[in-house]
Amino acid sequence: MSRPLPAVVRIALAAALAAALITLALLLAPRGGGPGSPAPAVAQDRAAEIEAAIDDWLARMTVEQKLGQLQQLDADFPTGRLRDDQLQLVREGRLGSTLNGRGAANTNAAQRVALEESSLRIPLLFAFDVIHGYRTVFPVPLAEASSWDPAAAESSAAIAAEEARAAGVHWTFAPMVDVTRDPRWGRIVEGAGEDTYLGSVFSAARVRGFQGDDYARPDRVAATAKHWVAYGGAEAGRDYNTVDTSERRLREWYFPPFRAAVDAGVASFMTSFNEINGVPATANPFVLRDVLRDEWGFDGAVISDYTAIRELIAHGVAADDADAAQLALNAGTEIEMVSRTLAEHGARLLAEGRISEATLDGAVRDVLRLKYRLGLFDRPYVDESREQAILNDPAHRREARRIAARSMVLLKNDGGALPLSPNLRRVALVGPLADSQVDMMGTWIGDGKAEDVVTVRDAFEDELGRRGVRYAQGCDAECRSAGGFGNALAAVRSSQAAVVVLGEPWSWSGEASSRSRIDLPGRQEQLLRAIDATGRPYVVVLMNGRPLTIDWAARHAPAILEAWYPGTEAGNAVADVLLGKVNPGGKLPVTFPRSTGQIPIHYDEKPTGRPFDPANKYTSKYLDSPNTPLYAFGHGLSYTTFALSGLSVSPASTSADGTVTVSAQVRNTGRRTGDEVVQLYLRDQVASVTRPVRALRGFERLTLEPGESRTVSFRLDRDDLALLDARGQSVVEPGAFTVWVTTSSDAPGLRGGFEVTG
Ligand code: BGC
Repeated sequence: MSRPLPAVVRIALAAALAAALITLALLLAPRGGGPGSPAPAVAQDRAAEIEAAIDDWLARMTVEQKLGQLQQLDADFPTGRLRDDQLQLVREGRLGSTLNGRGAANTNAAQRVALEESSLRIPLLFAFDVIHGYRTVFPVPLAEASSWDPAAAESSAAIAAEEARAAGVHWTFAPMVDVTRDPRWGRIVEGAGEDTYLGSVFSAARVRGFQGDDYARPDRVAATAKHWVAYGGAEAGRDYNTVDTSERRLREWYFPPFRAAVDAGVASFMTSFNEINGVPATANPFVLRDVLRDEWGFDGAVISDYTAIRELIAHGVAADDADAAQLALNAGTEIEMVSRTLAEHGARLLAEGRISEATLDGAVRDVLRLKYRLGLFDRPYVDESREQAILNDPAHRREARRIAARSMVLLKNDGGALPLSPNLRRVALVGPLADSQVDMMGTWIGDGKAEDVVTVRDAFEDELGRRGVRYAQGCDAECRSAGGFGNALAAVRSSQAAVVVLGEPWSWSGEASSRSRIDLPGRQEQLLRAIDATGRPYVVVLMNGRPLTIDWAARHAPAILEAWYPGTEAGNAVADVLLGKVNPGGKLPVTFPRSTGQIPIHYDEKPTGRPFDPANKYTSKYLDSPNTPLYAFGHGLSYTTFALSGLSVSPASTSADGTVTVSAQVRNTGRRTGDEVVQLYLRDQVASVTRPVRALRGFERLTLEPGESRTVSFRLDRDDLALLDARGQSVVEPGAFTVWVTTSSDAPGLRGGFEVTG
């Protein structure tokens, strides 16, 4: 007869079994919480436990150790290792986190110094810019927004998180949720485009993807909403430039995607480099305290951007480093990235009463809370055996290929030039980006490697065999010389059709990469004109990080596919779309202007007192250009066609707190299965303040078989109908509202309306 186990052993076994089951359940749980899943919440008892533990730490830490938790330094980028002087700071308990430190072995080694060689024993936090992938590179964020499929962005962020965490990274500086209406600004590539609503949906999706519902898990990371705030409003589109904007614009354009991130439970915020109405964001108590903390109740950590605290001196609001540290900390910036003003002057500022102990402790508390929420006190190390198995996993590559194809936008397709005929045996593949591995990944590639990238040339050679493809670069991406045009033209002439891959070098968008003209670089248009003049059939593929002014191409090229920078699986995804294995269904998340002179141009403009009237000179227009864009926000074609019908708006009249349901049928009227993005726009016809001519309030991407018809329904509620009145109050005003269900912001679509009663 077996003897019962002693109670203590039984309890231990039960606890071990429960822990194992929880871990298994977490590992097996599907990725992403799905749209509308609740914000990650630490259980109340756990939250209280964490705060008590932090109280304990604060009571024991010296001022230097507290300041150390607020310091982040930049590890060696190429190797991902901490430098010796940084490790020494760790030993002394004077470094809380690093940037760019990564790799399982590197981070474990540094963590051992923090936990075994320092007297403090607080784990280090490793941050890294995991923007659109860690090793497997997904399409740039502007491209993913073109999918109008937040689940795709959530999935790519989840995979990026899994790879990054396996490589020892805890914290990503993403998502970048800056709305911008200026394509000259290079950082447009990092966000979701021009629209506040679309941007908010993608912001929440990416936060969910990175963090899941618990970022202590071994396959998730803490996310950062950046750059707080209005960074995309840089004057003249020049990076880091001044921003002077009304509070209305801050609240209507720039804040909502950040608010969506907070609602999705984002772990941290990063301040922006720019000033806002005279006060640099990093020292701006209005945005950092009044809005973020007091209005929104955010309890995460706030980090400065790279050296942004010291840059307060260059801005001209701080006289010296001590002054900069004082301004930033008092305004609400907590962690200092790379510059060291707080670490060097904090103790003196405290002694002189220029910062308070409560402010310092509040900042340290937020850092320690982040470390607790990441589970670092329980599991400071990463399993080094997992890293190589997880990076670049074939399943990740498959998802990267699917999402890249899903992110492409068919701008033009005259006479069904695309998809290419399945009978093609000889294709010319020309242009500077057709075979450029590094360019196809775009900016901010994490730990991505150019050698992993499948180019368009690789993919076509795979499909048609090497003899079926005639490749000629024509020129490099900057295209300063026409020396290679002859070979490119010969390739085009000797083939049945040509694929011309044009665009910007990867480094022409992203940080510090603004352009004053946004046309095709160098002589690329000249190359295109010469190809056009051969009379051979051709299609254009664009790889670029911003809208381009491609007026000539838009008028002459038979077909244009906007591929953006598709990432590691670029070539396969482009080939999938060109060959018709995937029917493109993306839509532009940003307006393509006809010329730079039209910038800023966006679909949700205000009506003005003199809306354009061709019969009246004294109306709002240019003498030398139409007002309309080259390609509108929401535009994108398919290899099939769709028709909308049967609009229903119900009820016809509602109260300010009521809801309205808008529905319509969409039918695939063509002969191929395809995707349509049905878009809902709204206008408040007469209000106490001016309202945009149309504002996006809902969308859904659907896949329909030929002949298939589906009903799409949208629910509008108070948040959708509300405006900020002249006093800044959010109100729903009685009166008529117009709705459009359509397939692009410039398409008439179906129009209806409803009334809000007083
Ligand atoms: C960028 C941030 C980035 C940081 C760290 C800065 O220059 O503005 O977006 O997260 O560097 O790499």
